[in-house]
Amino acid sequence: MAATIEMPATRRPIVVAPMAGGPSTPDLVVAAGEAGALGMLAAGYKRPADLIAEIADVRERFTGPFGVNLFVPADASCAPERVDSDSAATGVADAEGRDRADRVAVEAFRDLLVQAAPDVHVPTPDWHDRDHYEDKLDIVEAARVAVVSFTFGCPQPHVVERLHEAGICVLVTVTTEEEAHTAVAAGADALVVQGYEAGGHRGTHRVTDAPNQLDHLALLPMMTDVGVPLIAAGGITTAGDTRRALGAGAVAVQAGTTFLLADEAGTTAATRMGLTDPRLGSCVTRAFSGRPARGLRNGFVDRFDALAPAVYPAVDQLTKPLRARAAQRGDIDGVSIWAGAGWRAAREAPAADIVDSLTP
Ligand SMILES: Cc1cc2nc3c(=O)[nH]c(=O)nc-3n(C[C@H](O)[C@H](O)[C@H](O)COP(=O)(O)O)c2cc1C
Repeated sequence: MAATIEMPATRRPIVVAPMAGGPSTPDLVVAAGEAGALGMLAAGYKRPADLIAEIADVRERFTGPFGVNLFVPADASCAPERVDSDSAATGVADAEGRDRADRVAVEAFRDLLVQAAPDVHVPTPDWHDRDHYEDKLDIVEAARVAVVSFTFGCPQPHVVERLHEAGICVLVTVTTEEEAHTAVAAGADALVVQGYEAGGHRGTHRVTDAPNQLDHLALLPMMTDVGVPLIAAGGITTAGDTRRALGAGAVAVQAGTTFLLADEAGTTAATRMGLTDPRLGSCVTRAFSGRPARGLRNGFVDRFDALAPAVYPAVDQLTKPLRARAAQRGDIDGVSIWAGAGWRAAREAPAADIVDSLTP
């Protein structure tokens, strides 16, 4: 299936990745756009009103194209949680059983967090948290931003169609061949092919799936026949990396980690400290959110990696106050330091210089 809305033309084949939790600011999006790359706002975790304000802020200063990234809640995704039965009736029973098991596992994890930090209020999970998905869809549609990308799942075809009617190019993050085919069938105009070296959450469409360990150079050839353009993500830190990804069939690269220390990035002080601490190494963990994510291994990961259940966003909600307190104290052993395998290449510089250094 061919793309319905083409990717906006930019001078450089580079997307500055959406990075929720601070790094992606309107300043970074404007700097990326001015440097000839495509900047992305990260709507994840954000209140709808803040997303509206950020879009307006970018538009005030930059007239070119930019995008917004949304998290797809599990119940709105084309790839529903796997049902381990071929009988629909048993499938429902299985789903209910899994739901109960999730709640028990999350309650047990909450007890552990309460014991670990008795002076912090660990909330009970909000099982209805969908990250304001529908409100955010309304916002990006009304704003007619050039690009909307999705992660953690695949938007339903009617959602993609709605965005197409508003002239919006739709990208979906994929990590497997199966996800790529699902996304193209749903109408995606291009795919962000995210390898295991990528920083932050892996965009696996089912939270319980164990993510594969393939890098973008391994994944790209598996997807070149899906019929839409591919954007390579994971570990891109040099012009050579970009050249290799383009050579393997990508039309562009999406780089995140290498911009974490950019002057315009809103990366927290604790994360900046962690990124430059030579003692820390890279790992993939569910400890902070219940979803597999690549970051730096610190005390929190050592303590909770084996214990956190695969339940998102409940686990994320529970650990949030502990992370916030650690951030306030500048305690790099208690915060999530999301970064890809190429984190050592991140450097303090204007985003435009970093875009330059990624351009072949
Ligand atoms: C701190 C951080 C936050 C991220 N947040 C998001 C996000 O909100 N949405 C998303 O689609 N991807 C997110 N990602 C993943 C990026 O889109 C991209 O896949 C990744 O940065 C590419 O790998 P690299 O970090 O090695 O460059 C995040 C990555 C990092 C490092």
